[in-house]
Order: sequence, then C-alpha cells, then structure tokens
Amino acid sequence: MIRFNHEHAHPFLEAGALEKAVAQTRDAFAKVQNKTGHGPEWLGWRDLLSKPNDALLNEIDRLAASIREDADVFIVCGIGGSYLGARAVIDALSPFFAGKGPEIIYAGHQISGSYLRDLVKWLSIPKEDGSAKQVYMNVISKSGTTTETALAFRILRKWIHDTYEEPKKHIICTTSAEGGALNKIIDSNGYKKFVLPDDIGGRFSVLTPVGLLPVAVAGHDIRNLFYGAVSAYRETEEQPEKLLTYAATRLALYKSGKAMDMIASFEPELGGMGGWMQQLFGESEGKNGKGMFPVLLGYSTDLHSVGQMVQEGKRNVMETFLVVDQDRASLKVEAETEDTDGLNYLSGKSFHEINTKAFQGTREAHVEGGVPCISIHFDKLDEEHLGRFIYLCELAIAVYVYCLDENPFDQPGVEAYKKAMFRLLGKPGA
Ligand code: PA5
Repeated sequence: MIRFNHEHAHPFLEAGALEKAVAQTRDAFAKVQNKTGHGPEWLGWRDLLSKPNDALLNEIDRLAASIREDADVFIVCGIGGSYLGARAVIDALSPFFAGKGPEIIYAGHQISGSYLRDLVKWLSIPKEDGSAKQVYMNVISKSGTTTETALAFRILRKWIHDTYEEPKKHIICTTSAEGGALNKIIDSNGYKKFVLPDDIGGRFSVLTPVGLLPVAVAGHDIRNLFYGAVSAYRETEEQPEKLLTYAATRLALYKSGKAMDMIASFEPELGGMGGWMQQLFGESEGKNGKGMFPVLLGYSTDLHSVGQMVQEGKRNVMETFLVVDQDRASLKVEAETEDTDGLNYLSGKSFHEINTKAFQGTREAHVEGGVPCISIHFDKLDEEHLGRFIYLCELAIAVYVYCLDENPFDQPGVEAYKKAMFRLLGKPGA
C-alpha cells in the first residue's frame, strides 16, 4: 500500500484550515469525476484505468521481449513528460550497476552537442567480440515537434540508417494519432508507431505506451505497474478520503504561505520518481502567480549541501518525504575487534535501520526548525506500488490545482522560452 502520514504537518495549520481545505478538495474531486472542471478534455489518464486495454499491454510486452532479445542499447528519446515517467520507474526498479538486458540511455532531453557527439561515438564502438552494438530507439513526442527531441532524433536516426541494413526495425515512435513532423517521418519511413491519445497530456502519460514500452524493455512488469494504478483508481473512486486529505494538507499549507514543496527521499532509487513528481506538480500548479515550487532533494547527500537552508533558511517551505518501509538490501554493519572508526555502536544494525533513523531524525529536526513535513510511504518498491503511487500523485495534483481554480493539464508558460529561442535562432515565422 501507499500510506500518507500528515502528523508532522497538521500541527502547523491554524484551527479549521484543514477542514476547509478538505471540503474544497471534495468539490474538486467531484469535478474531476464528473468532468466539470478546467480542461475536462484532458482526463484520459483516468479513462485509461477505468477500461484497461489488455491487448495494448500484450502488444507492448511482445515488442519489448523481442527488443530485449536483440538489443545491447535502448535509447529513450524524449523530454519532460515524454521520458520522466519511464525513467522514474526504471530507476526505481533496476539495479544500480550492471543490470540484465539492454542498457537504457536517454537522449533528446537537452540540446548538448557534446552529449550527442559522445553518445554516437560510444554507440559506434564495437562490442568485445568485434560485432556492432545492436541499438534500438524509442522516440517519444506527443507534438512531434519538440526541438530537443527532434534534434537528437535527427542525429541518432541518421546513425541508425547508416549503421543497419534494416533500420526500420530499430526505430519505434510514440506520438499523437496525427499531425506534427514526427508523423510525417513515420509515414515516409514506415516506422512502428504507438499512439498517445489526444486526451492525455505528456506528464500524465506514463501509463500509456509513452512510459510502458521503455519500462517493459528495461525488463519490468508493466501489467503489475498498470494494474497497481487501476487498483488505486478503483479504491479512490470508492474511498477518496486519504488521498483528499493529502491534497488538502498541501493546499492548506500553500494557503498558509508555503512557497516551496521540497520532495526528498533517502532512497536514491526514488530520485527519478521525485523528478517525475517535480515536473507533474510544477507544470500543473505553476500558473498565474500561483503554486508551490517543487524542489527535488536527495538525502542524506543534500543534507550536506542545502541542509542548513532547510533547517534555518526562510520559513516558507514544506517537505514531502518519499519513504520505502521494506528493507531491500539486507546489508548489516559487522562488529570489528578494534573499534578504530568508532562505528561498533551500530554493529548488528542494517543499513535500512540506519537510513530509517536518519530519515526520522531529519524529519524531527526539520519539524523543530519550522518545516511542516508530509511522508508518503511505500510498503515495498515494486511495480504495483509504483503504479499506485503514480495514479495517486496524478489525482492529487489534479484535485489540488482545481482548488486553485487553474487548469492542471496545460502548460502555456513553457512556450515563452521556445518563442525567444526560435527568434534568436531565426526560425522561419518566429
Ligand atoms: O507534460 C507535458 O506535456 C510536457 O512536459 C511534454 O511532455 C514535453 O514538453 C514534451 O512534449 P512532446 O511530447 O510534445 O515532445
């Protein structure tokens, strides 16, 4: 299960503030359910779970299995919502070093020439047995026109066409049903295509082929991921209170003057999930001068960089901890005869116990320092729990942003940098 703990946040709220926020979130949830709020045409991420498409899951699984059999490298080419969800799940579930299956590499998520140059150089180096690396690429872009992704795709597609006799086999595209430059390229080259439905925005698309194909190629069970989300969907339709209390707590803290939500975890494998959440929350709530800035922190590493700021800086911050309750490493500290490093007091303790105390101690200190803290607990870190978590975050932010009277599903502000960049680059018509 996914559990929300608000006991270190509620004491910071004025009497009645939570109850008022809960009532607001109830109304907002009804708008989500009845499609009567802002952007009702963008609620496909819920419909997807109410009518699971097993045939699509099977098709993705089959293709992923054949890619896994052949590929040494699988490139996920996309930016923002087109890659962060896949990366979050893959990072959470894959071993830190030397996993099985193809190496997953990301591209098209920035415009660095040196990154692409080095990537192409490295892809071109043969394997130890002298044969060429088998490289597959999934380019993901709903609009099919995003500059970062399109530029990387142009370079990598050329490399694939120059390298393989059957380049078509190596390129899979995920985009909208029609329109956009990517669809033209697909049509003229006959690449395999998955469709991202029009009613699902990029950052809400992880449970579509956008996220599912890369996750399946990485060797993870997309059925458990998807059906974890389906379970969370069904449960919250019946009993939304816990989720609404989370959204309401965040809302009440925002209304009390909090300007930043620091998303922190002591589990490095959840760094990607924090990054996905950061984008989901940031792009959904940062509108018309409203919203909390989502900040991503990796503890305990960042306690040694910005810990001072969290503890004693300006008191306009709240903190959201992502916690895994299960011990997955079973690594213990052994006693040494000579306690030269002074660590024998920890002997017999697991790293999980030590990390848990570090989390609890940090939360205690931050609460004492005036930072309201919410903790979101995963019983376990597996596909099912990640699926549940993804849906709960999507629903929580939709409900919360409705309470701000904004549209959670658009991102008009993202166009501003593009406009200026295109003008500076001399793009025709810009
Ligand atoms: O959440 C979103 O909609 C955005 O982050 C997009 O995913 C991102 O801008 C990439 O867009 P596209 O998929 O059209 O290339």
